[in-house]
Parts: sequence; structure tokens; C-alpha cells
Amino acid sequence: MNWTKAERYRSLRDVNALEMEVLRAKTAASPWRFGYHIQPPTGLLNDPNGFAYYDGEYHLFYQWFPLGPVHGLKHWYHVSSKNLVHWTDRGVALVPETKEDSHGAYSGSGFVVNDTLHVMYTGNHRTDDWTRHASQIIGVLRDGMIERRNVAIPDIPAGYTEHFRDPKVWEEDGSYYAIVGAQRTDETGCVVLYRSTDLNDWTFLGEVKTELEQFGYMWECPDVFELNGRHVLIFSPQGIEPEGHRYHNIYQSGYVTGTLDLETLVFTHESFEELDFGFDFYAPQSTEHDGRRILVGWMGLPEIEYPTDRYGWAHALTLPRELSLEDGVLKQRPISEMKQLRSNQFVNESGTRLDVISPEHFELELSTAGEDFKLELVKTEDESLVIRYEKDTNELTIDRTNAGEPFATEFGTTRTKVIEVTSLHLYVDSSSVECFVNDGDAVATLRVFPSDGEKRVRYVGDEASLVGWKYE
Ligand code: FRU
Repeated sequence: MNWTKAERYRSLRDVNALEMEVLRAKTAASPWRFGYHIQPPTGLLNDPNGFAYYDGEYHLFYQWFPLGPVHGLKHWYHVSSKNLVHWTDRGVALVPETKEDSHGAYSGSGFVVNDTLHVMYTGNHRTDDWTRHASQIIGVLRDGMIERRNVAIPDIPAGYTEHFRDPKVWEEDGSYYAIVGAQRTDETGCVVLYRSTDLNDWTFLGEVKTELEQFGYMWECPDVFELNGRHVLIFSPQGIEPEGHRYHNIYQSGYVTGTLDLETLVFTHESFEELDFGFDFYAPQSTEHDGRRILVGWMGLPEIEYPTDRYGWAHALTLPRELSLEDGVLKQRPISEMKQLRSNQFVNESGTRLDVISPEHFELELSTAGEDFKLELVKTEDESLVIRYEKDTNELTIDRTNAGEPFATEFGTTRTKVIEVTSLHLYVDSSSVECFVNDGDAVATLRVFPSDGEKRVRYVGDEASLVGWKYE
């Protein structure tokens, strides 16, 4: 989209109520608005930010450009929830208005200190000649707004470029650590670590030494945590070429599991795995509460035009997923709280063919005996999203070739994962599908933009059990 710099770098402060009303009306008139996902009121949503449990609620923010479906001046928008299902809209929480974040309050994380929700985020500044400067800023949530406290990390250490952002902070053994996504001056991606005892002085500890020395040109949005006695490092590398069925999106998002030694910074780990084999997933962030590790991702990708752009808005967040590490395998399961949305059960049969009119928003569980099947979702007269499984090759394919308004077709219209499938658990919203395979073994997230008309779910295959729930 052709937006001038002046249009892209306007702040919410410069927008009057009438202009905002017009944008809201345009967005509200859009088809494909979500029923139960977090979506922007107007404009563009990208990364989840500041995810933390604080004062009896989960707080979640997201990158937000209010004025249109483009990557412009990034603000933070705030929602909160007691149950991760019903979210309260808390409005804009961070308007970039200092020199350091003059060109965007970029991604960052949340953490609680002395009963106060703190965040650390990247201030993105551009000089007149458009040179980028990145610094890491700490703020606190007060009366619904993030108040800036201090520039915690003003400079970039030698050896790294200005692509230095997205700090994730955690506390361990009386110290605070921040892991930051970075690009080395030789244009390869990595992550680096800082430590502080008082949140003011941050010591650069160095680069996390992984076995992925040459793995893309930039690693965005790192996250690191312990799960079942192991460390998990999540990040979103840019510049990875497709390889077989893997890495077909413009940018990737995945993890390694292993052990991170905070003294030597050596991370001994298994191979890099994608978090999601769908078309639209990026820059996830996690938080921990009550012994559960919950992950939310951006259901979208940069540099791609989506059909909702013409209505002035773009993207949503994924449903929260619960992570666990079982026998070395990272499992991702839909949070059990989602059951609260179930209303009418609309399929409860067993058979080899099923054909039902589907609601706009629903959940569906399919259990099979491991044989071939074909499941068509959001099917109107002549379009359908097809999920098919071939037992011989164990290929599970999601095919959106003819699933509605096409977009991002240059990245292919099918995604395949080799996996033995015995069950699928699907969450379908007006313009998205999240498909969990078996019991959390894999997930595929995708957007789909069906045309108007009666939608059906159709199953053809061997004996299977299908149960669905309409969502209110
Ligand atoms: C990832 C990202 C981050 C950055 C933010 C800006 O999507 O590029 O690296 O902080 O988006 O909106």
C-alpha cells in the first residue's frame, strides 16, 4: 500500500474524534471480523507484547498502528482477561512520544516488580536521513497507560547493527535478564543477553552461543523459559530458505530446546523446529502463571497484503496455547478455558460421510482410526478449505487454493506436515482456522477469507467421530 512517511508516522494524538469515527465505521463494515479472537478496532495489529499476569488478570498488549492496515507508527494496545477467553478492551496504552521511540514503540515484554506491571520495549528512532536507532526502554503501567521510566539500554554493543530489538525480561536468582533479538554486522541473526539487579544498570553479557551460527539475517522476538527442567528458546528468524515442507512462509517462527548456561551463555540444544506449520503465524510471546506456560502469536506476517486491508484493518492474535515439554517434545494444546465458549453441539455422529451447515464460529473435534480422510471447512457453493490426510505418506495437507479470496499466493497455497494423524482439534472463526493435531503434537494457523453464503463442514473418510460446538 502506498502510504507516505507523513501518513505512516502520524500519532493517535494527531487524530481527531471524527477521523477515528470514520475509521471505526469502515472497519466495522468489514466482512471477516472475528467472533472470538483479539483483533484491532481499526488499523493494523502485529506482535503480542507485554504478556503478563498482574493484579488478578492476564494483561496482553499488541503492536498497533491505528490509522490503517500498514506498518506505521507503532503504539501498544491493551486488553486484559481473567480467563484468557473473555477480554476487556482497555484501549491504547502506549503512545510513542519521545525522541527514542519517535518512530515506534516496538515490541517488548511485561514483568511484575513490587506489585507493578513493568514493560521493556524497543524505542525505534529514525534520524532525518532515515538512519535507525534502537534503544530498550522501561515503563510501568499506571492508570491504564504505560509511563516511561528510563532508557535501560541506550546503545548497541559493537558487532551488531541497529536491528536490535524485542527484549524479553525475566527474573532469576535475584537478577533480571533481558534477551534481545539482534543482527550481527555480518548480517546474520542471533540473540544477546543483558543482566541487571536494579532495572537501571544493564550489563551486556554477550551473545547466546547456539549451534545456529548462520541461520537467517535477523532473529526477531526472542523468548526463553524453562519447561519441565529444560530451556526453550523461541525466536522468529528472517531469511530462511524453504526446505522440503518447511519454511514456506515469508518469515519463520520456531524454537530449540536444551540447556542454557547463564555463566558461559552456551545453549546446548536440539534442532530448530517450527512452532506452527500454517500460513499465518509469527512473533509469538509467552507468559507463565499458575504453573502453566501460555503462548500467543500474531496471526499474520509482515510484508503481505490481506483482503481486509481495503476495510482499513489487518490481523489478529492467535488463541492462547498451553505449552508443555513431554519426552523432549514441545506440545501445544488449546487452553482448556476455550470450552467456556461452547454452546450448541452441532455434530455428534459417527460415520464415513458428514455434511452439516456450519456456524460462523465453532470448535470441532475429529478422531479417526488413522486412515485417509478429507475434511472441508468454510465451504460455500464453490470454494472450500481442504484438510486432507494420506495414511501412506503420513502427509497432512492444508489446502487453501480455492478457499475464498486469494492472497499471499506467491508463498504457495498448501502447507504439509508429515505426521501420523489420529485426531484434529479445530477452532474456526470468521476468517481463521487453528488446527491442532493429535494431542498438541503440531498446530497450523491460517487466515481464510470465504465469500458470503451458506457454509458447510464436510467430511469424507473412514469411520470417524466428529463433535462440534457452536460458539456464542
Ligand atoms: C516483528 C517486528 C518486531 C518489531 C515489531 C515492530 O513482527 O518486526 O521485530 O519490534 O515487529 O512492529
